[in-house]
Amino acid sequence: MTKRRITDQEKQYYETREALIANCPPQYLADAPFLFATRIQITSMLSRIDLFRMVMDIPGAIVECGVYKGNSLMLYLQLSLLLEPYAINRTIYGFDTFEGFRSIDAQADPKDINESMFSDVDVAALEQSIAMNDLIRPVARIPRCELVKGDIVKSAPAFVAEHPDLCVAMLILDTDLYQPTKAALESFLPCMPKGGIVVLDEVCYRNFAGETEALKDVIDLNKIELRRFPYDASVGFFRVP
Ligand SMILES: C[S@@+](CC[C@H](N)C(=O)[O-])C[C@H]1O[C@@H](n2cnc3c(N)ncnc32)[C@H](O)[C@@H]1O
Repeated sequence: MTKRRITDQEKQYYETREALIANCPPQYLADAPFLFATRIQITSMLSRIDLFRMVMDIPGAIVECGVYKGNSLMLYLQLSLLLEPYAINRTIYGFDTFEGFRSIDAQADPKDINESMFSDVDVAALEQSIAMNDLIRPVARIPRCELVKGDIVKSAPAFVAEHPDLCVAMLILDTDLYQPTKAALESFLPCMPKGGIVVLDEVCYRNFAGETEALKDVIDLNKIELRRFPYDASVGFFRVP
């Protein structure tokens, strides 16, 4: 992995932000999150909103592979509840170990990563947030957001086999790793209608090349129209041909 190089001004920015956050009560942080938001956070929020709008007329689930703390998953849930509150067949599924990286590939993935990375997750907080939103949403007896715990290499094919009703409108690949990305593509692509959207969070990115390598191993790049948003360098996406 190439180390991030930051300028003195960026260093000062992050130190100032850290100090600002340290001095704020949690309620203040929650009530005014844009006071503390970084350019990167706003960029990914905007690209997720744009992606969500692209699948609004496609029935089926949103499947996120690689959930971490659930920030992105909950944004998709909030967007669905706001913009399509009665879409009872729009389930947002989050696949993750919730214990960090697994199935690291010795060849395709970076040498300096390990299984403890992304293990600092409070999955109970995520579950409580989902349950809290169930209190105020329409048709709350039908689940709208579900977590699928385990290594995606095993959980993705098992889930597809157990859910013959599954259609996937949007597949988000954000484990950063070769094997779970490949397993997710092989499992979920057959459940996606033409025009459904596959999102790669680290596409064409040398620091986590495994994600792009898995894409190339499953799909002929010449047969898809890989796209990006001009304002977001990391996310790539394509419509299922
Ligand atoms: C970059 S983070 C996901 C970030 C999240 N999508 C977001 O926007 O906040 C990568 C996640 O992939 C998960 N992960 C990595 N390998 C996995 C595997 N083999 N099976 C399941 N989850 C895995 C990690 O636990 C981690 O939470």
